[in-house]
Amino acid sequence: MESKLALQVGTTLDRFIMRKQEDFPFATGELSQLLRDIALAAKIVNREVNHAGLIGIGGAYGAQNVQGEDQQKLDVIANIRFIRALRNGGEVCTIISEEDDEMIQTGNCKGKYIVAMDPLDGSSNIDVNVSIGTIFSIYRRLSAFGEDGVMNDCLQPGTQQVAAGYVIYGPSTMMVYTTGNGVNGFTYEASLGEFYLSHQNIRIPENGNIYSCNDGNYWQFDEGTRAYLDYCRKASMTARYTGSLVGDFHRSLLKGGIYLYPATGKAPNGKLRLLYECNALAFIAEQAGGIATDGKKRVLEIQPTELHQRLPFIIGSKNMVEKAHTIIQGQA
Ligand code: AHG
Ligand code: MN
Ligand code: MN
Ligand code: MN
Repeated sequence: MESKLALQVGTTLDRFIMRKQEDFPFATGELSQLLRDIALAAKIVNREVNHAGLIGIGGAYGAQNVQGEDQQKLDVIANIRFIRALRNGGEVCTIISEEDDEMIQTGNCKGKYIVAMDPLDGSSNIDVNVSIGTIFSIYRRLSAFGEDGVMNDCLQPGTQQVAAGYVIYGPSTMMVYTTGNGVNGFTYEASLGEFYLSHQNIRIPENGNIYSCNDGNYWQFDEGTRAYLDYCRKASMTARYTGSLVGDFHRSLLKGGIYLYPATGKAPNGKLRLLYECNALAFIAEQAGGIATDGKKRVLEIQPTELHQRLPFIIGSKNMVEKAHTIIQGQA
């Protein structure tokens, strides 16, 4: 019994990143350093999230972001923490964030990388203690070193991501990421201050029985989407939707499932954002054997035209997403 309860400490995230780097003899270690910087920021945000209810940083901040959403205090705090960690780390020249209208220049003109991030995903869940997250995508800059990054560096399609991941602040805090060679998950052990490899080479089940969609929007969806949701209901599938994309995706990744945020009357281009929400999760889904589309094409191939671009989003288990396409397109 005792041994079962004993902490299964194995490979730390730092060691895992280091070992991976050894597979690439010509790698300079900058991407590894950047991943460690992100993990450090995640630990800091994790601390803020855990204490939010106690130290008065729950609730609204009193301003809106560029999308017209009411910012929560933790949206702003997480944004500051991540920007600071990336600036101090030195590897990133330019950051794109949900919470900032324009590109953020770190001043690290020699930094090779661009980071797009949703510093705090699932804001509406902060004050009710439901899982929230952070999402990030990493790109290599295209412009020459020595200057700030430019718009072209930021508007790269998702196929160009060199790494992407998310952190989920839930019953336990986890970081899940890919560098294009499978997906691995690390669970945070707070008393030791380390992420440990807990979910090696994650594969999303090809089939699943859970669908995740804001059903309150049903009558705002097009006929095809409604037909697919009718199919899910008739098949007595299980509905699960928290309103935290990271949480809803994490469940689909581990258990199999499909997540949909289609276009609505209110949000005719969909709600979720290509650069700092959908691309990262699409990269992870594909690396785990799943699929991510905007209902028609592969998310990763969409050429972005603006920083805060939105799109309809369908992601999850291969067979479920394919079935959804068949039904949705059958109605078109
Ligand atoms: P964010 O909190 O970063 O603005 O993202 C909110 C997103 C996403 O996390 C979630 O899946 C979706 O908004 C929920 O939207 P609805 O409340 O419209 O269902
Ligand atoms: Mn928001
Ligand atoms: Mn979000
Ligand atoms: Mn957010």
